Amino acid sequence: MSKFLVEKCPPLRGTVRISGAKNSALPILAASLLGTEDIILEDVPRLKDVEVMCEVLSYLGAKVEFLDKGIIRINSKDINNYETPYELMSKMRASFLVMGPLLTRLGKTKTSLPGGCAIGTRPIDLHLKGFRALGAEIDVNHGNIGAYAEKLVGDRIYLDFPSVGATENIMMAAVMAEGETIIDNAAMEPEIVDLSNFLNKLGADIKGAGTSSIRIKGVKELGGATHSIIPDRIEAGTFMVAAAITKGDVTVENVISSHIKPIIAKLREAGCVIIENENGDKVRVIGNGRPKAVDIKTLPYPGFPTDMQAQFMALMSISKGTSVIIETVFENRFMHVDELKRMGADIKIDGRSAIIQGVESLMSAPVKATDLRAGAALVLAGLVSDGVTEIGDIHHIDRGYENIEEKFAKLGAKIKRV
Ligand code: UD1
Repeated sequence: MSKFLVEKCPPLRGTVRISGAKNSALPILAASLLGTEDIILEDVPRLKDVEVMCEVLSYLGAKVEFLDKGIIRINSKDINNYETPYELMSKMRASFLVMGPLLTRLGKTKTSLPGGCAIGTRPIDLHLKGFRALGAEIDVNHGNIGAYAEKLVGDRIYLDFPSVGATENIMMAAVMAEGETIIDNAAMEPEIVDLSNFLNKLGADIKGAGTSSIRIKGVKELGGATHSIIPDRIEAGTFMVAAAITKGDVTVENVISSHIKPIIAKLREAGCVIIENENGDKVRVIGNGRPKAVDIKTLPYPGFPTDMQAQFMALMSISKGTSVIIETVFENRFMHVDELKRMGADIKIDGRSAIIQGVESLMSAPVKATDLRAGAALVLAGLVSDGVTEIGDIHHIDRGYENIEEKFAKLGAKIKRV
């Protein structure tokens, strides 16, 4: 089991290129099952989760080739398998995203209940509600889920919560359904827009992605395309917080600044100087002394992302004053709190709120990454803790950050994998 040793570092300085978004790459890889011609994906981050999704696609009968760095060619003309085995599904929750494409391509799909980060119960009822509305029969037993449909027919589907995964899975199931599907209270995340743009390049007819109402007119078949994955707004946000927490001066490049507005706004409130370039593809963050305490409430996009909650909590741990962070998207997404407390943070939990009394400094301690973003928060805390912080269970971090040690090293941090 590898660990990270994170040393206290001077203010980080320099420029870091942000990779393609994990949360865009995964649904787009799943959606590649829908096309019958060659698909070329560019700027795909080399991550554990991406490798698992590629394994799933190969298992289902797609040809997956890693070409140059970040470029993958997929051909799904001859997919023949409709079952995803437990071993693959248990490695990553997002494997569930192949259900929508398989249902519409093969008329059937079967898998076990998904695994992934242990952040709350994470049900899949909304995915299934969508499949049922399109005419699928759902069969759940012995930890397996099957969905079957001779023909899918478009319908109007209201999501009780704007779930990202459910919106994506239903969009993918509906692209070749007969007639029109409307998803109301759909998720509006940039990754949904990226998926929609990709599907439209393959020949789909989707309008309204990025708004709360998405209209999908079913088409007969989908072909091939070349598509570049959008930049990872959460990786960008993590490096921006790294600049703030070390009082450094870091530019993130290959970003879309409109996707990271809440992060920019909260860092400004915390006292950072933020400079965006005219194109909106570079953002410079200059830490300005000890951060001011700011309150945060996580919300679906365009609200503050839950995937940045843990990293902001690390920042608030050393702030001047008291901040309140409210997590509304996932229950039980405060597992990093105990670890941050081991490093000297003063945090109390009250239901879905964390009350953080900023302290002047943190100290190193042996800690564990309990999930992906919790792990990122511990790396950030380690950068400003006296001594060397030892972080275990870093396989969680590898699921979502490409070359994290190298990227941090370029900015002047010392993170060793042992
Ligand atoms: C995606 C992201 C994840 C991010 C999350 C919220 C990927 C691969 N992962 O996860 O990084 O933290 O969006 O921005 O893109 N829910 C239901 N029923 C369902 C589905 C979801 O009640 O059928 C609830 C969940 O329990 C949770 C909330 O909806 O409380 C949000 O989940 P969802 O948006 O679906 O997250 P994911 O797609 O799993």
